[in-house]
Amino acid sequence: MEKSQSNFRKEINNSKFIPVNEPLLNGNEKKYLGICIDSGWISSEGSFVKEFENKFSQRVGRKFGIAVSSGTAALDTALAAIKLKKNDEVILPTFTIISCAASIVKTGATPVLVDCDPLTFNMDIEQVEGKITKRTKAIMIVHIYGLPVDVDPVLNLAKKYNLMIIEDAAEMHGQRYKGKECGSFGDISIFSFYPNKIITTGEGGMVLTDNEWLFEECKKIKNLYFDKERRYIHEDIGWNFRMSNIQAAVGLAQLEQIDRFILRKKRIGKLYTELLTGFENLQLPLDKTNYSENIYWVYPIVLKERLGFDAAEAMKRLLNENVGTRHFFWPMHLQPAFKKMGLFKNERYPVSEKISKYGFYIPSGLAITDDQIERVVRVIREELR
Ligand SMILES: Cc1ncc(COP(=O)(O)O)c(C=O)c1O
Repeated sequence: MEKSQSNFRKEINNSKFIPVNEPLLNGNEKKYLGICIDSGWISSEGSFVKEFENKFSQRVGRKFGIAVSSGTAALDTALAAIKLKKNDEVILPTFTIISCAASIVKTGATPVLVDCDPLTFNMDIEQVEGKITKRTKAIMIVHIYGLPVDVDPVLNLAKKYNLMIIEDAAEMHGQRYKGKECGSFGDISIFSFYPNKIITTGEGGMVLTDNEWLFEECKKIKNLYFDKERRYIHEDIGWNFRMSNIQAAVGLAQLEQIDRFILRKKRIGKLYTELLTGFENLQLPLDKTNYSENIYWVYPIVLKERLGFDAAEAMKRLLNENVGTRHFFWPMHLQPAFKKMGLFKNERYPVSEKISKYGFYIPSGLAITDDQIERVVRVIREELR
């Protein structure tokens, strides 16, 4: 017998399993989706898409927003728009998602890696200048897990060497660096709206810029490079990365709740820290740096090596106790896909290698309750010793 969606939902809610993420969809999502269905406007041409682009870009303080079908599509669009050439180089952290390095490789340019900081997990700024060559065209900053990159020193390098900044703020909705919104620092910046993000559209992403030429270019790239005047004529090759009106409807309803979501994320993070402080087997995330407070997009923990087992073993133990977790990123220089291309041969980045082996994150989605957090902590204290 087939289970109805609501029964399925109830079963999840009643079960003891605590998922690593569960989104909150209890604002105007249903209402706006109903408008899509009643009006028949479900494609990318519906009016919610423009409204979502306008409201989200305004919130981040950017002139232009281009909604696309994922954060990965946003990176591909951004990298295609800045017109890199073969042999150009882009510097980025090895500790990130593959979408970042892949977007560079897809243009024919070369990704050049730096290691990350052991406490914030963001790119090690000290290593960046040493990687700049005559071929370097851009630096890609990627804000990781809840604390932003220390942006100012990177902006200074970009100015000194005349480089572009690509900013991946996929995880960092509503976070600020020295009081200024993440997503406002790149010549071109991107966000993701995957369901584990602070606001979601199911699948989705956005490119943001203040540059009108880049804006026009991104619009063409995400829409098969259709000619403005004559449809079905294409001066270049693009993709279909369009966001649908259905996705934007959910996004708008989520955006209305973003401040509440950010407060809840911070509360989740602080509660975990409060309950785990003193448990010496774990490295807990920093609550703040001298430029930002943690927004706790997720709650990342790193096992101390003296425990004698790695993240995979710890995650198995927690799963046995009905606690979902997620691995840290696996560094770019260890990815089979890039090894096959001959990239990053013999390169070593010890901090990223260590945290990707011993780090993982624990349930921290917006729908988690304080009781569930307390249970996760009890299981951690019991199982990770
Ligand atoms: C830093 C970062 N960039 C890009 C992406 C890709 O976004 P998406 O999953 O929407 O393609 C993610 C996804 O989680 C991410 O964490």
